[in-house]
Amino acid sequence: MKQKVEDLDWKNLGFVYRDLPYRYEAKYKDGEWQEGKLIEDSTLVLSEGAEILHYGQEIFEGLKAYRREDGKINLFRPDENAHRFALSAERLAMPPFPEDRFVEAVKQVVLANKEYVPPYDSGATLYLRPFMIGTSNVLGVQAANEYTFRIFAVPVGAYIKGLNPADYIVSEYDRAAYAGTGQAKTSGNYASSLLPSVEAHKNGFADCLYLDPREHKYVDEFGGANFYGITQEGQFVTPKSKSILISITKRSLLELAKKQGLNPVERQITLEEAFNMKEAGAMGTAAVISPVGSITYEGKKHVIYSETETGPVTTKLYNELVDIQYGKQEGPEGWVQTID
Ligand code: PLP
Ligand code: COI
Repeated sequence: MKQKVEDLDWKNLGFVYRDLPYRYEAKYKDGEWQEGKLIEDSTLVLSEGAEILHYGQEIFEGLKAYRREDGKINLFRPDENAHRFALSAERLAMPPFPEDRFVEAVKQVVLANKEYVPPYDSGATLYLRPFMIGTSNVLGVQAANEYTFRIFAVPVGAYIKGLNPADYIVSEYDRAAYAGTGQAKTSGNYASSLLPSVEAHKNGFADCLYLDPREHKYVDEFGGANFYGITQEGQFVTPKSKSILISITKRSLLELAKKQGLNPVERQITLEEAFNMKEAGAMGTAAVISPVGSITYEGKKHVIYSETETGPVTTKLYNELVDIQYGKQEGPEGWVQTID
């Protein structure tokens, strides 16, 4: 059933699927991407032999539209999502969707559903979920030759706990292999994180923190966000790893941290080091910046900064990032695209 805009409680949206009036769809057939268009039907019809149902050719993206104070709408670095989507496609042996068409389609979906972009100051945003699946029939393990690309939109609130510290547990499982698909945004990585996250939630944790899959010695990332720490010396550090998603929020924060004099660096971070950070956080589109209150490992809880308060470095980074996203502050050139 279509979501009525008047039924939305902007301050209590959660992070759940809702069926909005319009989505964008384009199909790949006969070796090329066909012209796409906005459609109303939120369902997909698939053959039982469709590649996606058996061998998992799926990639996706996540980006947000922000209502500005003047009523216009901002997109945050959509060209970066378009580019990562093309890289994910390459890793999954899928035909890349043209990056300029990706950004154009995102804009079309936002404008078509624009009354669903939450009001300025509600703390909510319109989340865009572009994805692509292999649709042609296969039986042997092989790539499809037909694909569907879609973008749907959903108004959302905080994904983790917003700017309140959350508790994490170090997982004994891996979500992605060392030279596997961790750098691609593909459903398989999330499928392998489901059991660990169910167990983590059951035990009261917000999510898992995954270790590097080769040695289980270094911090990799959370199930749905990258990790950063602020060392005792005040340096912003974030893992360098072949098995993590190259987060657009992370890359943005590396720039903001540099400007704020935090001397940011991407390098391996041992778990012991992570426990001793002055502050730590999760960063991502859905997560924004969410402080880490504690990390539990082998039954021992390591509190980082505070379980109830957010540290000053995290707060400052959060404020600057969010101000740029909402257009309250000018960011580096090209980060924000404003649409009416
Ligand atoms: N890591 C994982 C596993 C994610 O799912 C996400 C979310 O997209 C991120 C990191 C953060 O990436 P980004 O900042 O581009 O949203
Ligand atoms: C995002 O931040 O866009 C993601 O895709 C993370 C997901 C776990 C909700």
